[in-house]
Amino acid sequence: MQSTVLKSFGEYELRRCLPHQVSQVIDINMRTLPEHYSDEFYYDLLENFPEGFIIAVKGERVVGYVINRTEFGFSNVKGFSLTKKGHVVSVAILEEHRRKGLGRLLMEEALKAMVEKGCKEAFLEVRATNTAAVSLYEAMDFKTMDTLRHYYRDGEDARLMVKELD
Ligand SMILES: CC(C)(COP(=O)(O)OP(=O)(O)OC[C@H]1O[C@@H](n2cnc3c(N)ncnc32)[C@H](O)[C@@H]1OP(=O)(O)O)[C@@H](O)C(=O)NCCC(=O)NCCS
Repeated sequence: MQSTVLKSFGEYELRRCLPHQVSQVIDINMRTLPEHYSDEFYYDLLENFPEGFIIAVKGERVVGYVINRTEFGFSNVKGFSLTKKGHVVSVAILEEHRRKGLGRLLMEEALKAMVEKGCKEAFLEVRATNTAAVSLYEAMDFKTMDTLRHYYRDGEDARLMVKELD
């Protein structure tokens, strides 16, 4: 079964992820990031916000992903008002497919899905030393709102980055 194609981009396509493709997403996460999650966590994200679980594929091979969830809570930009927010949980592209625009396209589709779900802002945490990711988010107008001290298990700080959505 083929999933919905969101965008074609040269030899790549962005598609909504299907359950049988989640194992490839987990594999990319294991290879590219130090933050890992239980298999159940991925399937929960897919069930709860399937529009925000997006993969980049080349043929049938998954080469990148972005996974998101929606949350209701205090705004990260507007003081003590309550708001619906999109949380970018993780995004990664296999090394040999980087710097081709896929990370940005995945993020753009994720933000679109958040807007369609009624989110007013998007936020994410990123390692302070992850220059590639920080550059990508800054290029997309995410602003650093806070430093989360010792956020990661190894003690590294995170930047809390936020973007208002229209
Ligand atoms: C961060 C990541 C997803 C970016 O994916 P990508 O497909 O290579 O990014 P793109 O090609 O869409 O880049 C878009 C823009 O982001 C910035 N950028 C991306 N990678 C960069 C790098 N290594 N150094 C500096 N800027 C970078 C640039 O502004 C780039 O635009 P440009 O290529 O026109 O200069 C990728 O590096 C990755 O998978 N890293 C490992 C996993 C990770 O750290 N995920 C983020 C966790 S919070």
